[in-house]
Amino acid sequence: RHQWQGVIEEYRGLLDIADTTAAVTLGEGGTPLIHAAGLSERTGAEVWVKYEGMNPTASFKDRGMTMAISKAVEYGAKAVICASTGNTSASAAAYATKAGLTCAVLVPAGKISVGKMSQAVAHGAELLEIDGNFDDCLTLCRKLSEAYPVHLVNSVNPDRIEGQKTASFEVVDRLGQAPDIHVLPVGNAGNITAYWKGYREYAELGLADSRPRMWGFQAAGAAPLVLGHPVDEPETVATAIRIGNPASWEQAIAARDESEGLIDSVTDDEILAAHRLLSSTEGIFVEPGSAASIAGLLKRSDAGEVPSGATIVCTVTGHGLKDPQWAIRTADGADLEPTRVSVDAVSAARALGLE
Ligand code: F0G
Repeated sequence: RHQWQGVIEEYRGLLDIADTTAAVTLGEGGTPLIHAAGLSERTGAEVWVKYEGMNPTASFKDRGMTMAISKAVEYGAKAVICASTGNTSASAAAYATKAGLTCAVLVPAGKISVGKMSQAVAHGAELLEIDGNFDDCLTLCRKLSEAYPVHLVNSVNPDRIEGQKTASFEVVDRLGQAPDIHVLPVGNAGNITAYWKGYREYAELGLADSRPRMWGFQAAGAAPLVLGHPVDEPETVATAIRIGNPASWEQAIAARDESEGLIDSVTDDEILAAHRLLSSTEGIFVEPGSAASIAGLLKRSDAGEVPSGATIVCTVTGHGLKDPQWAIRTADGADLEPTRVSVDAVSAARALGLE
């Protein structure tokens, strides 16, 4: 039986990495591609969900981080730095620790989930809360990495994109062909850039007959690519994608145009509804930012724009346990109150409606 070796060993020949470079890996990639019966029925398409929350630090960032940290070691770096809405910092902290590197992370104060923060702290990162948003954090990190011996591991680092493109390879390997449409949440726009690179390369190598249309969705309060200009004060419940000036802006537009795709926005209400739908009907628990892809698919489906019978893959980027408060909050905003009973079978049976 094949035991998954992490994305570098699985795809080394297709990645920009030397045969001799040691892989710093936690076994990332090889994530489930799950057929979604409910979403398929609702949209009239064949919908698959690429569940990236199943990576070692529970988000897709690990695919890029195994590359970025392996290469950082090769370059002789002793310390890495990143800006983050939470997932990049969790991943950087874990892989840096594995490699014996120091890691510094800059996050927007009060705007990252406790789950993500706890990961960075647990893995021993130097954590700085910045009185600003993600875009401010990234600007600071760029300055620090230019002035000091700290290696930048945000997705402006091409090693990150290179690792993240493996998700497209996995989709094609699993389906036997490229999907017709690939749907992604978009924040800093590294991931849509990476997926498109992966699909392009697989087609060029003859490993796929076609390439999908790329559909990206931003949160309505943080939708610079849709508006066509940066957003100074991005705001959304989906803190993962609360970004006003994406670093990979041009690459995201290129992915959209070259694939004849689209980049649109979804409201916080649409995101939270999709988040609930996915967990309560498909058994897949994601963080709100991840649900932007599902929300976007449903929006387009309701507008009659999903081709009947199309094969569609939606990436859900991070695990629900990253930011679980949204699950126990009811639609009207109150926290769920579980029914409480004494240690008594009859009371429990009554409470469950069995009696
Ligand atoms: N989904 C999740 C869960 C994310 O954490 C991110 C980005 C995205 C989607 C968007 O991906 O930036 O490549 O367009 N998170 C970054 C971070 C910004 O710091 O963790 P993107």
